[in-house]
Amino acid sequence: MHPLLEEEDHQLIYLLDALEKCISDGGSANQVYSYLSDFVILAKEHFKHEEILMEHYKYPKIIDHKKEHAELLKQLHILQRKLDQGSTPFGKEYMRMLRNWLDEHLIGNDRRLSNFLYQVNADSNNMAV
Ligand SMILES: [Fe+2]
Repeated sequence: MHPLLEEEDHQLIYLLDALEKCISDGGSANQVYSYLSDFVILAKEHFKHEEILMEHYKYPKIIDHKKEHAELLKQLHILQRKLDQGSTPFGKEYMRMLRNWLDEHLIGNDRRLSNFLYQVNADSNNMAV
């Protein structure tokens, strides 16, 4: 796997773990919001890096992959707006949704992309990102 993408994957998982711990420890709404914001910022960066690579190497499944990224970002923005307005607490249900999405995406589309990059020998540090 490309080292930068791998590092970002680990950071995303780390942030979700921290968010989950914050919720189960009864963290304040501000703390929860802060972790979620960090997650959104990192997810955007990570998706951008993947998309640059997909475009650069003409990845055949780019449309589906980008669609999944866009869908998650849409859901995250909806969630952020609800939290902003104080209309919903960030409960376990949202946590499960994020966790499921990330797990499925990492195992599915991201692994396929990683295999493709490996095949085109694009997993070195000398990359477009
Ligand atoms: Fe991805």
